[in-house]
Amino acid sequence: MRFQGEDTKNPPQASGGKPVAQSGELSFDENGTPFSKRYDDIYHSVSGGPAQAVDVFLAGNALPGRWRAKNRFTVLETGFGLGLNFLATWKAWREDEAACHELSYLSIEKHPLTVEELAQAHALWPEFSALSEKLRRRWPPVPTGTLIDESEARLSLHLYFGDAVDILPILEKKAVKADVFYLDGFSPSKNPELWTPEICRHLARLAAPDATLATWTVAGSVCAALAAAGFSVEKQPGFGRKRHRLTGHYCAPLPKHPPPNTNTPSLFSQKDERNPKPNEESFTEDCP
Ligand SMILES: C[S@@+](CC[C@H](N)C(=O)[O-])C[C@H]1O[C@@H](n2cnc3c(N)ncnc32)[C@H](O)[C@@H]1O
Repeated sequence: MRFQGEDTKNPPQASGGKPVAQSGELSFDENGTPFSKRYDDIYHSVSGGPAQAVDVFLAGNALPGRWRAKNRFTVLETGFGLGLNFLATWKAWREDEAACHELSYLSIEKHPLTVEELAQAHALWPEFSALSEKLRRRWPPVPTGTLIDESEARLSLHLYFGDAVDILPILEKKAVKADVFYLDGFSPSKNPELWTPEICRHLARLAAPDATLATWTVAGSVCAALAAAGFSVEKQPGFGRKRHRLTGHYCAPLPKHPPPNTNTPSLFSQKDERNPKPNEESFTEDCP
């Protein structure tokens, strides 16, 4: 792996103006599950990190199957954390002989762990040891930039260190189109800023026409924000102790209605009142 120059010239920065190198973010709870002191929450399900990555995020986006139909495939993640979802995706992609030619993994992280903290967490997952070691070898001392796996130039990891609310508009300017979203903030009650209607609207603007999403939470506020932004969401049987998880797909807005016939204005206005815009129709207070 090496750093790609592109982003290091104009490093994405945290909202405070400085790249954010943090230590002391990581601890472990009584079950040995990685835990954030800052957010008072666990990094992944107590029922197992790698299994959660595969069941919730990969299977929730119909991966690996969906990337087989494409030459290039883009994953966009909110919350890089321990890099666990990335490692699980990388492994699945390497082991899939029919995988897309190029995989681009974009991820945003506001409070990056130090390389020592990553090593502590990665020690829990021997199945990823070759890949996690590679990742840590290239972990930036000043956290910014894009990591490219040179030996397999077909895979790239683009890491953006900063607040998602600042980084997502940068990705929009770059005309990024994501095939899948991994929404992996901490619990919406403890990390509400990563699940806001504004974040969801950015995601919708970054969605490829057939984009899908997956997340472990089914909080009503998250479902509502996603639906209002134009995603159709559905509860699925949950992973581990959780009863449900969420999947969704992007519903591109319908073409605008043809201009009203000026001879019959009153009829058209009545019809519009009965048929709200597509996004409003799919808005729900609670998860379906
Ligand atoms: C549950 S952890 C992510 C776990 C990760 N996906 C993995 O596979 O290891 C949530 C992450 O979101 C990050 N985060 C929280 N708020 C954020 C924000 N506003 N912008 C970007 N990252 C944020 C946290 O620092 C944390 O690392």
